Amino acid sequence: MAGRRTAVLISGGGSNLQALIDATEAGRCAAELALVISNRAAAFGLERAARHGIPAVVVDHRSFASRAAFEALLDRQLREAEIELVCLAGFMRVLTPGFVDAWRDRLLNIHPSLLPAFPGLHTHARALEAGCRVHGCTVHLVRPTLDDGPILVQGVVPVLADDDTERLAARVLEVEHRCYPLALDLLARGEARIEADRVTLPVGVDPLVLHPELAGHALQP
Ligand code: GRF
Repeated sequence: MAGRRTAVLISGGGSNLQALIDATEAGRCAAELALVISNRAAAFGLERAARHGIPAVVVDHRSFASRAAFEALLDRQLREAEIELVCLAGFMRVLTPGFVDAWRDRLLNIHPSLLPAFPGLHTHARALEAGCRVHGCTVHLVRPTLDDGPILVQGVVPVLADDDTERLAARVLEVEHRCYPLALDLLARGEARIEADRVTLPVGVDPLVLHPELAGHALQP
């Protein structure tokens, strides 16, 4: 059976898009990646889509007079492609409440922090600055407030003594690539249910991805 028709919205390199492509091709994620939309023509993610035969379009926000007009075209592209679920994957445009509400509970985002800590930008630098012992990523359903909404899956990494933002970001990205396919699979299969604006999952489903460097800690008394 074909998976739920899913679009991925990108602005850049698209390593999370690649993780979703790999998981769907391997049968680890019950989604069919049916459309990629980038707001930047130079986004490398477009190349990834092309290599895997996924239809891709550029919708450049700069050629629209208003955010509403930009989003109206996004919405039309999604509906014309009969998209059911939408993944934001490094899509660097803030979406208005009108668009977010139209796709409520069908719109996911991945954010590079353990929300509700560090919404917004520069999350890795802020986690280092705060002296966090752990950091990570969150896949959540999108609500009108930035980086807010019911949490599907979180990935946790240790913050190591000699970390800089690059090393920490790379470690977080490793768990991002495991979290996003898992979260999309849970939603696509209907296993993730939204009750009272929180996600509930069937017993036995683990919504936590731990970085391998945390493994030793699990054995501590
Ligand atoms: C990721 O860190 C993601 O959490 C954030 O933007 C970055 C996108 O990276 N929203 P990529 O384009 O998927 O490589």
